[in-house]
Amino acid sequence: MDHYRLGLLGYGTVGQGVVELLARTQDECAARAGRPLAVTRIAVGDPTRPRSLPDGCAPRIDGDPLALCHDPDIDLVVELVGGVERPREWIRAALEAGKDVVTANKAVLATHGEELFTVAREHGKLLLFEASVAAAIPILQVLQQGLPAGPIDRLTGILNGTSNRILGRLEQGMSFADALAEAQADGFAESDPTLDLSGWDAGHKLALLTRLVVGTSVSLDQIRVEGIERIEPIDLAFGERHHWKLKSLAELRRTEGGVSLGVGPAWIDAESELATVHDEYNAVLLESETFGTLVLQGKGAGGLPTAGSVVADILRAARGEGSTPAVAGEPVEICDPGLDSARHYVRFRAKDRPGVLARIAGALAEEDVSIASVEQPEATDPDRVPVHLVTHPVPTITLDAALSRLGPNGILSEEPLRIRIADTNVLRVKGPTPCPA
Ligand SMILES: NC(=O)c1ccc[n+]([C@@H]2O[C@H](COP(=O)([O-])OP(=O)(O)OC[C@H]3O[C@@H](n4cnc5c(N)ncnc54)[C@H](OP(=O)(O)O)[C@@H]3O)[C@@H](O)[C@H]2O)c1
Repeated sequence: MDHYRLGLLGYGTVGQGVVELLARTQDECAARAGRPLAVTRIAVGDPTRPRSLPDGCAPRIDGDPLALCHDPDIDLVVELVGGVERPREWIRAALEAGKDVVTANKAVLATHGEELFTVAREHGKLLLFEASVAAAIPILQVLQQGLPAGPIDRLTGILNGTSNRILGRLEQGMSFADALAEAQADGFAESDPTLDLSGWDAGHKLALLTRLVVGTSVSLDQIRVEGIERIEPIDLAFGERHHWKLKSLAELRRTEGGVSLGVGPAWIDAESELATVHDEYNAVLLESETFGTLVLQGKGAGGLPTAGSVVADILRAARGEGSTPAVAGEPVEICDPGLDSARHYVRFRAKDRPGVLARIAGALAEEDVSIASVEQPEATDPDRVPVHLVTHPVPTITLDAALSRLGPNGILSEEPLRIRIADTNVLRVKGPTPCPA
């Protein structure tokens, strides 16, 4: 029987995981694909570097991704390099050359998805991307095919394992710099971690999920994205005293004004579903009036966990069963979650002078921001006295306007940090249902 011939762009963490998994499970894969699979060609950045490959796997290896995309002896192109502009060119070329494509690259699809899905449809080819969101969790399959009927009203995800792991370490009292260095040493953070820490990695994933949940594409500038870079152990210690956990949440919410989309750190109740998602694990919580809540949790990074989802897409493509999402559905109003009212936590570092609290309260009052509680622990450094404050519900943008009134005024030693306290009414786990007598 003819082999289904795979060409891989990239042989790094995920590429090697895919080749290893295909080798380990070759009989099962052949049975599920309906024919044997073979990796026959790989393009890498440095083709002179020796590569380790499983026994019996002897692909041609070179440094020419475009030639691989045009190679008539390749049936499926698997893009595992990363980046935006070069993969856009390669994926487009492969689809135009009549090949199905599987990718784990959220950045290229969040940026150029509309164009690439259109090319796939025009050429009657598949463009599958399960591994690009929450690695091992088959969330795209669930959204496309596995969900009970009924619209999703709200999606809340922990979609970036690096941020999640760092926040967990801060909770244990580790400094941000040490937590990041540890994540890098253990292979959970890139040498340039900007996309993870700034929230944009999760922003890309939220854009892809939105396409499937709402049926239309969104541009990245329609998502409010905030990072975790300024969070410190002192903030986590405050949360602990209030029975809160800090998570970087990606949220899609249907509101009367449209669909609000945001990524950023938020306090959640320590008893809520997502509070127990630790380290590099990801989770997606779906809420719907029809089916209630549904939570999926699994590894959000790593060679083999990600490879599992890539291989699942490869098998779907081999059977010709996958589906490329529809392009440009009905336009949907996208709104800023910063307009929603919520309680907020604010941490100031102020100089130990009379009148500081009055100045802070005055600036907040100017924008009608009402204070629910204030805490000022003893401090050793009189120039950096922490002040923790919790507000009554207020839109984030109003709070920001109030905080900007404080500006550089000689009383604060650094910019205030604010964190939304998420509405956990819906996220709170209901207590156990007693067994009927
Ligand atoms: N790692 C994860 O846990 C994970 C999880 C989900 C999704 N993803 C996504 O999967 C993709 C791959 O990630 P990764 O972690 O496997 O990356 P990686 O370890 O950095 O590997 C990247 C691979 O691409 C190759 N490459 C770089 N430039 C190239 C070029 N111009 N032409 C051909 N090949 C080139 C590299 O070649 P050399 O070997 O010569 O350097 C390397 O083999 C990314 O889109 C990432 O976002 C990763």
